[in-house]
Amino acid sequence: MIVIAADDSLVNPAMTPVDPTDMLAWLAREGVVLQSRGSVFGEQVYLCARGRRHPIVSAARLEELGFRWPADVQPVPEKLLASYAPGGGVPTPWWAAIDTAALGDAMAVREALACSLSGIGLEIGAGASPFPVPPRCRVIYGDRLTYEQLVAEPYPGQRLCDIVIPDVLTDFDTIENVADGSLDFLVACHVIEHTRNPIGSIAAAWRKLKPGGRLVLVVPDKERTFDRDRPTTTLEHLVEDHRSPDRTNDYAHYEEFYTLAQPIPEFARAAEVARHFAEGYAIHYHAWTHDTFAEMLDYVDREICGWSHVWTHPAVADESRCIEFYAVLVK
Ligand SMILES: C[S@@+](CC[C@H](N)C(=O)[O-])C[C@H]1O[C@@H](n2cnc3c(N)ncnc32)[C@H](O)[C@@H]1O
Repeated sequence: MIVIAADDSLVNPAMTPVDPTDMLAWLAREGVVLQSRGSVFGEQVYLCARGRRHPIVSAARLEELGFRWPADVQPVPEKLLASYAPGGGVPTPWWAAIDTAALGDAMAVREALACSLSGIGLEIGAGASPFPVPPRCRVIYGDRLTYEQLVAEPYPGQRLCDIVIPDVLTDFDTIENVADGSLDFLVACHVIEHTRNPIGSIAAAWRKLKPGGRLVLVVPDKERTFDRDRPTTTLEHLVEDHRSPDRTNDYAHYEEFYTLAQPIPEFARAAEVARHFAEGYAIHYHAWTHDTFAEMLDYVDREICGWSHVWTHPAVADESRCIEFYAVLVK
């Protein structure tokens, strides 16, 4: 069954709230708050726990989590902070986050969705912005590229110190190297548009999840990105990509991408398209609006793999604060 929110409600009836006492107890037991002043981390304050660092966005957030500002913040050398791997922000405790009036930007929505996650999960393509899961979650990070490849060509705006070291090499098209039925959640933010066969990716995610597990997808809205001049990918096209996942069909995606999304001057285009295709550069193969993505999820739910709950939400606020829409599918 597809449930598409008609208003701006973000409360998913199928989501079980986290016990707040659990989270605070855990933080008090194991988290430390560290800050170093320097060129790598600047003034940023981090909650460090289980080998990962989670940026704290404000003194108010720190206090919500049960720490005092500045008494509980320990100054440390940069080297010590660098020894903690990036691990995403610390979400506002769920009872504060599930306040639709406060969901003014993309990170606030990500945090609201993150609050409902628990257990062991996989995040595919975290890049330098790991999803802000509660620190009590155990996250395995996966990417199609190695850490060395990710730092060699960072995306614009990515800080090298924030790039997550992948624990497992895996492609969202197939999610190899991850056991079936092993995950409580799977998160992919700004990744499904890079897959050749998105219907196949969602079916692969379904196989990897335990019953009741959640797939969280955050997807750029084509009308709010460089994809705005491309045609919206049709359901027929996606079904065809799933039925005949032939790599040679992808050539047309590269031509469209380098003509309409990130245009290359015509005289050089054919050669560049051929080069990027040969290298398998991960372009945006497909481009969606919230409604066309929901149409694809409806098809997947009816024809490919049945989910117990499918929830989607359009981009919030304006383009300067949010370019993405959201989907949570519960197995
Ligand atoms: C645009 S970045 C997204 C970064 C981050 N999640 C965010 O929301 O800002 C895309 C990431 O997904 C990875 N990626 C792209 N296509 C992929 C695929 N088919 N399978 C696995 N990872 C992929 C890229 O290597 C990169 O790390």
